[in-house]
Amino acid sequence: MTLSVPKTVNKICCIGAGYVGGPTMAVIALKAPHVQVTVVDLNQSRIDAWNSDTLPIYEPGLFEVVKERRGKNLFFTTEIDTAILEADLIFVSVNTPTKTFGMGKGSAADLKYLESAARRIAAVSKSSKIVVEKSTVPVKSGEAIRTILQANTTPGVAYTILSNPEFLAEGTAIPDLMNPDRVLIGGDEDENGQIGVQALCDVYANWVDRSNIITTNTWSSELSKLTANAFLAQRISSINSISALCEATGADVDEVAHAIGRDQRIGSKFLKASVGFGGSCFQKDILNLVYLCKTYNLHEVAAYWQQVVDLNDYQKRRFSLSIVRSLFNTVTGKKICVFGFAFKKDTGDTRESASIDVIQYLMDEGAAVSIYDPQVPDSQIDHDLLPVGVSPEASDRAKSLYTITHDPYEAAKDAHAIVVCTEWDEFKTYDYQKIYDSMYKPAFLFDGRKILDVEEMGKIGYNVSVIGRKLH
Ligand code: UDX
Ligand code: ADP
Repeated sequence: MTLSVPKTVNKICCIGAGYVGGPTMAVIALKAPHVQVTVVDLNQSRIDAWNSDTLPIYEPGLFEVVKERRGKNLFFTTEIDTAILEADLIFVSVNTPTKTFGMGKGSAADLKYLESAARRIAAVSKSSKIVVEKSTVPVKSGEAIRTILQANTTPGVAYTILSNPEFLAEGTAIPDLMNPDRVLIGGDEDENGQIGVQALCDVYANWVDRSNIITTNTWSSELSKLTANAFLAQRISSINSISALCEATGADVDEVAHAIGRDQRIGSKFLKASVGFGGSCFQKDILNLVYLCKTYNLHEVAAYWQQVVDLNDYQKRRFSLSIVRSLFNTVTGKKICVFGFAFKKDTGDTRESASIDVIQYLMDEGAAVSIYDPQVPDSQIDHDLLPVGVSPEASDRAKSLYTITHDPYEAAKDAHAIVVCTEWDEFKTYDYQKIYDSMYKPAFLFDGRKILDVEEMGKIGYNVSVIGRKLH
């Protein structure tokens, strides 16, 4: 008789207390109060922050949920082994960055964190477990986890590996988790696979209608996550490609987006032209998809998806170039104020933020950049802008090219231009007349997020440029 994995889930362990693991477990703890949820991480300071009043990530509504359940059925700890030992179900929610070295450099995912988590589970477990991949991982990495677990199994312990990709978007993680469009669970077709799938379905069924829980085989589930992100990013690159044409012809990209979005087959979401998409998922997942296609000799398919990333890079370059062009072809020594460093509003996350590329471009052209963001810590900005592995002198030189300011009015004072890189709501509330009065003239405003009222800004006196709109 084969050993069975747990049929019901009373204790959950989540390995990885990051942007995905933290909020997801907090909502499970809230919605399934009878389940004990323990989130573990190697990083002590991250765990300490989860146990404090200043959480390690900024996410609207998250603190309230954590506060409600922490110490009751939600725990954050670095005692990884104990949590693994006790759990019926283990979410693996570690980071899977794009490889920066070796085979697949620049496109394949680095699975070292996933591998070490799997090895830990194998080393510690004394009872059968359902192991769930929650990180965005390249297709067939479930197999890697399975191989590690099976090769190191303790007698009397069975595992089943499920794929349960997370579709939450940062900034709206809590509502996304509370009310998901769907939950996707992939598992093996064998008996333990199906027991695992049912057990996880039962956890989500505490608040998600069963008709919104989709079950598939493991590979379909993994590939669906990459495909969902590739399709979403593709829409942004598609509208961004049209934004270039709009600027050249006089069409307005908002009007085009509105007109095409009314076609129900197209739909209105994710059609907002911008300086370019960022975030930890889109580029990484498309590059994974490209790598996967190449691995299977599907070169045309790989080239098709690569173009979505190439267009995004083009958009960031195009926007930066237009700033320099407008400022009489030189920004050397000019103060340029950048509003927004996060990759989107309502998050302090800067991974792949378009703002970083725009600022680098402006600094390379000799501009003195002054940065304001409502949430991103100074240390993160330094981390993203300072070159790694260079001499302290080179680092100091790089640091002299930008300043970080905690007051938007101060950031813009004496600047030649304001560049909006993130769509923070507070940017719409400023007194732009006051800001204008404090700036160099002519004062320029480049809106890479389409959030400001062009006519209004023009009346104040700004020379306004907006992505996807030709201005005279
Ligand atoms: C994305 C997916 O939406 C989510 O389902 C997945 O789990 C993780 O990746 P996220 O990266 O957090 O989520 O944010 P998202 O709202 O998708 O935005 C990604 C980027 O696209 C941001 O830089 C955003 O500003 C940009 N964007 C989004 C646009 O430029 N235009 C749009 O119309 C929408
Ligand atoms: P994501 O956006 O996918 O959630 P993050 O980088 O925010 O990614 O979080 C991943 C977390 O996983 C980090 O806090 C990291 O310290 C943690 N981590 C990575 N490997 C392990 C491991 N083997 N055991 C425990 N935690 C790990």
